[in-house]
Amino acid sequence: MKILSTIDDMRKAARAVRRDGRRVGLVPTMGALHDGHLSLVRAARAAADIVAASIFVNPTQFGPNEDLGKYPRSLERDSELLEQEGVSFLFAPSVDEMYPADAVSWVTVEELSGKLDGRSRPGHFRGVTTVVAKLLHIIEPDLAFFGQKDAAQVAIVRRMVRDLNFAVEIVTCPIVREADGLAMSSRNAYLDVEQKKQALVLHRSLGCVEAMVRAGELDAERLRAAGREEISRESAVRLDYFAIVNPDTLDPVEDLSRGALVAVAAYVGSTRLIDNLVIRPATDE
Ligand code: PAJ
Repeated sequence: MKILSTIDDMRKAARAVRRDGRRVGLVPTMGALHDGHLSLVRAARAAADIVAASIFVNPTQFGPNEDLGKYPRSLERDSELLEQEGVSFLFAPSVDEMYPADAVSWVTVEELSGKLDGRSRPGHFRGVTTVVAKLLHIIEPDLAFFGQKDAAQVAIVRRMVRDLNFAVEIVTCPIVREADGLAMSSRNAYLDVEQKKQALVLHRSLGCVEAMVRAGELDAERLRAAGREEISRESAVRLDYFAIVNPDTLDPVEDLSRGALVAVAAYVGSTRLIDNLVIRPATDE
């Protein structure tokens, strides 16, 4: 595996591969890798000839009071894991390399960027779409892999790619969970043993909605109320949102007959966690 830290080197390496007619799959990450990230790498290996991964803790997607400073960084271990998974190129640029000091250009997906996590994290998705656009321009992959774990991110990146004609296919991979149901996240490293137990309420609240849908309840407002009530039973957890929305527009739906995205965000201590569940249309069953 080659580790590249400059845009120029990364671009040249990716171009050489594509000139040979090989398809490049990109897995963008912020590092502190876990099995969720590695599942994207495995999907990329299966679908592309060459896999490039990026590790860049992107400062522009963190708010002023968020965890940029303490975000876990483990480049050495991460690069070993990626090498074991058969990644050919690891792009790990510095902040100065990615953002010239006088950079003033942004990519914004209007409307969608203010919904779900964008509502509680102003500017977050502008940072995400800007860095993802930059990575797509630098590497020009045929395919790029994202986790369903970040459902709003998926909707927003897909919309950007469509609206701005990026020549890349976005592939979404399922949420990878711990054995107890907790969705894997680099931020789980912030949780102590007790908080990890409390955090399970996110998954439980989704399970509760899923069970109600299975039993025939399709009214979104009643399902939201049930999800919120489940979260409120865990007094140490503070709800940010419990939403039932159209997975593409992120707008609330009234009923689930055509399927929906059930998404939850909550704070356990000062750690913000997210999880979600996609309900397929009844006719798919
Ligand atoms: P990061 O949080 O490191 O996640 C990188 C990718 O791994 C994202 O596509 C995310 O959805 C996916 N992922 C994380 N946890 C997962 C899990 N439990 N199951 C499946 N996939 C999972 O998301 C980002 O970084 C950044 O916003 C980025 C896209 C790299 C732009 O900076």
